[in-house]
Amino acid sequence: MSDPNEKPITGSTMSTGAPAPSDRNSLTIGANGPIMLHDVHFLEQMAHFNREKVPERQPHAKGAGAFGFFETTEDVSAYTRAALFQKGCQTEMLARFSTVAGEMGSPDTWRDVRGFSLKFYTDEGNYDLVGNNTPIFFVRDPMKFPHFIRSQKRLPDSGLRDNHMQWDFWTNNPESAHQVTYLMGDRGLPRTWRHMNGYGSHTFMWVNAAGERFWVKYHFHTEQGMAFFSNAEAADMAGIDADYHRRDLFEAIARGEYPSWELSVQVMPYADARNYRFNPFDLTKIWSHKDYPLIKVGRMTLNRNPQNFFAEIEQAAFSPGNTVPGIGLSPDKMLLGRAFAYNDAQRNRIGTNFHQLPVNRPKVAVNTYMFDGQMAYEHSGNAPVYAPNSEGRSWADTEGQMKDGWEADGDMVRSAYTLHAEDDDFSQPGTLVREVFDDAQRARLVEQVAGSLLGGVRSPVLERAFDYWKSIDPDVGRRIEEKVRAGAAPEPVPGMGES
Ligand code: HEM
Repeated sequence: MSDPNEKPITGSTMSTGAPAPSDRNSLTIGANGPIMLHDVHFLEQMAHFNREKVPERQPHAKGAGAFGFFETTEDVSAYTRAALFQKGCQTEMLARFSTVAGEMGSPDTWRDVRGFSLKFYTDEGNYDLVGNNTPIFFVRDPMKFPHFIRSQKRLPDSGLRDNHMQWDFWTNNPESAHQVTYLMGDRGLPRTWRHMNGYGSHTFMWVNAAGERFWVKYHFHTEQGMAFFSNAEAADMAGIDADYHRRDLFEAIARGEYPSWELSVQVMPYADARNYRFNPFDLTKIWSHKDYPLIKVGRMTLNRNPQNFFAEIEQAAFSPGNTVPGIGLSPDKMLLGRAFAYNDAQRNRIGTNFHQLPVNRPKVAVNTYMFDGQMAYEHSGNAPVYAPNSEGRSWADTEGQMKDGWEADGDMVRSAYTLHAEDDDFSQPGTLVREVFDDAQRARLVEQVAGSLLGGVRSPVLERAFDYWKSIDPDVGRRIEEKVRAGAAPEPVPGMGES
């Protein structure tokens, strides 16, 4: 057997490119002696190690992803002029799936909503859709988002997750009822990322070549079929393999089993929004498929694993504000709040010039008037750094009405909008429970909610939770209350047990 000490392995370099002296032995005075301060290679290794992590994403920290392509198979040019959605166009893309509340190392199979982030490297710049595996969300005003996320994370003293805190937030914000019903139903435990649907969730705008505007909602339906874990299976898997979803996607692609999703959109004529029975910009609501049926657009296929997780997944920066011509935002306040939040998070998480990293760089030429800053890698040489200029460098100069804009007028207000006929918080979750769930799904819902409430939820949040569920559906609410009351420890009598 050869002795590696007799036959040193050479070949690595220092960051300067000069040969590294040794990756195994530091420089000392004598074999046991003190380490020399001028062992630059050793110092560089230690210092870089201390800096080799970036902060995890605030929500959606645990995830993974893969590359692939999107092909537009249908003619939807009547609704959008976006190049990527013209029939026959094939666009390279990246997808990242995630849990919301868990930190970087948390189990993939704990009950949660799942993130569904897509980046399309289009001929007109990067287009990002940053959605979830549910078509709606917990709140409708971005002011509430940090409070919501904190309530799902950890207590300030013990650092523990806490059901009481979660239900306190949800029951104080009844607009959460629709998303909580999804979360407590089967969709809270997808079997794999390959077996779940994805949604843009918000309402977006599409604009066609003639300048006509439409409101759209995106639906990505899994071609693997939907599949879920039971509570027991998910809990077991969390112990057996905390990275189960990450592993499943990576290994499926490595085997050549490429997961795919069919994209359809619901399209609402621009003028319908004003009088639709639900506020079409309220993220806690869906649009009825009877009112606006699905229109097929194309297919996304994931066929390439990352080669380097840090470079291609951890440093990936998605933002709902990244749009391309022919696609716009909408008056959804959540969407408008998000248009700021993501790139700001990424400046902090990755660095000022995160957009220059290969995974985030568009495939088209960039001519931006943002310069320098930490880790600036792409420079514009000696080209003018101001606009307008007389030196031949082009600049943007659109004036007048925006093609993807909308009318806004009225006084400045702070308001939880509910101006449309059927805008209450409980009708849509009630319909979901009664008309979409079958008996078995309803039974699992009752079981799950009761179990969650029995996990430390105290008065008065507990009583509010019973009312919340009775408002969604009187029968389901009653069954939840009965189950909790039957299983709950008796309320402690004040004073008892005190010495
Ligand atoms: C990640 C903020 C609502 C889906 C994030 C991140 C922030 C954030 C700061 C981390 C970004 C990063 O570090 O790269 C917000 C705010 C919201 C909001 C302020 C509301 C105003 C939503 C909604 C959805 C959503 C409604 C889905 C419909 C996601 C997903 C990720 C994410 C999927 C992970 C992105 C990735 O894969 O890198 N969010 N979020 N968020 N958010 Fe939101």
